[in-house]
Amino acid sequence: MCSAASSDELLARIEADIEAQLSAKRKRLKHSRAVAKTAVELADLYGVDRHDALCAGLLHDYAKAYSNDELLEKAAELGFDYGCDLKLVLPILHGPIAARELRERYPELDDAVFSAIERHTVATCDMSPLDMVIFIADGIEPGRPATPDIERQRAEVGKVPLEELFLDALSASIGFVIETKRYLWPGALESYNRYVLDRNR
Ligand SMILES: [Fe+2]
Ligand SMILES: [Fe+2]
Repeated sequence: MCSAASSDELLARIEADIEAQLSAKRKRLKHSRAVAKTAVELADLYGVDRHDALCAGLLHDYAKAYSNDELLEKAAELGFDYGCDLKLVLPILHGPIAARELRERYPELDDAVFSAIERHTVATCDMSPLDMVIFIADGIEPGRPATPDIERQRAEVGKVPLEELFLDALSASIGFVIETKRYLWPGALESYNRYVLDRNR
């Protein structure tokens, strides 16, 4: 547990870091701040640690600063194995890469923060409440265009359990991959099935 002063210092460091990391990507920087704000709102509503939500929200797209080639190179160096050619799962690589790099950069942050950063692209069968908060916030922050799916999720905030909101967000993201006819990593489908089974139990 850090003191209020050290927690403020840490936050200032994170803010400066993400500003520098995404300096060439102003829209991504704005998105990161909006995800952090939405994540804190969700955290307050669903009893999740708001400091962790704020830090994970700010940092979740840290690896979006890298080019596709850099992401593929880093994923190969780190030995990532998703059971297929890494090019097929390019959109999910920035979460796990950011989690690995940030763990070294911020040893003082809680493990839960790195888990949420990793899982915002790789939803697993055992998402924690913080993992869910970041996943949902990423999809519904105010800068996202108001599609029917997103509008529905926004309207559900605070009215349905966190797990239900997460399943909606996961379904929407899987639906988008299918609609745009891109490769769907089977792990996402496995997680989806798990949450559907839990819900109907
Ligand atoms: Fe992302
Ligand atoms: Fe994002």
